[in-house]
Amino acid sequence: MVEMSVNLNGLAMKNPVTVASGTFAAGQEYADFVDVAKLGAVTTKGVSLNGWEGNAAPRIAEVPSGMLNSIGLQNPGVDHLKAHELPWLQGQGATTIVNVSGHSFQEYVDVINALEDAPVDAYEVNISCPNVDEGGMNMGCSCASVEQVVRGCRDVTKRPLIVKLTPNVTDITEIARAAESAGADALSLINTLLGMAIDAKSRRPLLSRVVGGLSGPAVKPVALRMVWQCAQAVSIPILGMGGIACGEDAVEFMLAGATAVAVGTANFSNPFATLDVVEGIRSFCEAEGVSDVNELIGGLLC
Ligand SMILES: Cc1cc2nc3c(=O)[nH]c(=O)nc-3n(C[C@H](O)[C@H](O)[C@H](O)COP(=O)(O)O)c2cc1C
Repeated sequence: MVEMSVNLNGLAMKNPVTVASGTFAAGQEYADFVDVAKLGAVTTKGVSLNGWEGNAAPRIAEVPSGMLNSIGLQNPGVDHLKAHELPWLQGQGATTIVNVSGHSFQEYVDVINALEDAPVDAYEVNISCPNVDEGGMNMGCSCASVEQVVRGCRDVTKRPLIVKLTPNVTDITEIARAAESAGADALSLINTLLGMAIDAKSRRPLLSRVVGGLSGPAVKPVALRMVWQCAQAVSIPILGMGGIACGEDAVEFMLAGATAVAVGTANFSNPFATLDVVEGIRSFCEAEGVSDVNELIGGLLC
């Protein structure tokens, strides 16, 4: 028997595995494959106040060892999430993290205010989306704007506040410290890396927006490095992600300092990926004589 539960600074998770926002909708689409109550948490697709249409197609491209997306945070808005998704998640017995988006500082605050009477266990504040012109990654690239948005969200909720960081910065540790000092309970990283792909014959970009976010196994070494750096820079826990597809990938993130992990792009090629990762962590621990998964956190030897 392996003790699998972890605690993300106030968010109790029955195991360390959640989904990466935007790769699992709000769980209902995966209900034929995954019993969401078996996950540490479900993290919903980014939600804004009134809904966004997203970017024009094509907005997905496959690249070696990963994918590019430029969805642009398409979503039907917070009222739809409250009416159709959150009650379902609650009925399934899921632990729910809502990923919050905004075009302005005020919109993040408004979305959280709108959710305070809903069955939500934690918020993940996405200040790292590379696919929108206003808000998103722009807010996650300077310490001053990170502090402003995190303080605004902190003021309106006592629920655990996870701040999701972009890897598209020079020094992720200074952004991590800014989020911590403004009141974040935990950090999640990484969001996608800005990239692009070109079709040589047509001389055209594969994405209509030209650039998009790279995810999948290709980004794992970058994500591991950033989780490891941030784990040494802050004292709040980290939700690690970027290319996780199996139990050993997840264990590597925990050794680098992550308390919990999220499975993203892997869900598209293997809809059972989340449950495979939970079982993979458990069997790794059994094989290695680890009785409590928390022993793995920050256990890197170097
Ligand atoms: C299609 C797609 C949509 C995404 N949408 C969101 C989103 O709405 N909010 C967010 O914070 N991150 C979003 N992400 C980023 C992922 O949550 C995750 O941080 C990133 O993909 C790295 O993990 P992975 O390599 O396991 O996919 C999205 C990623 C993909 C591929």
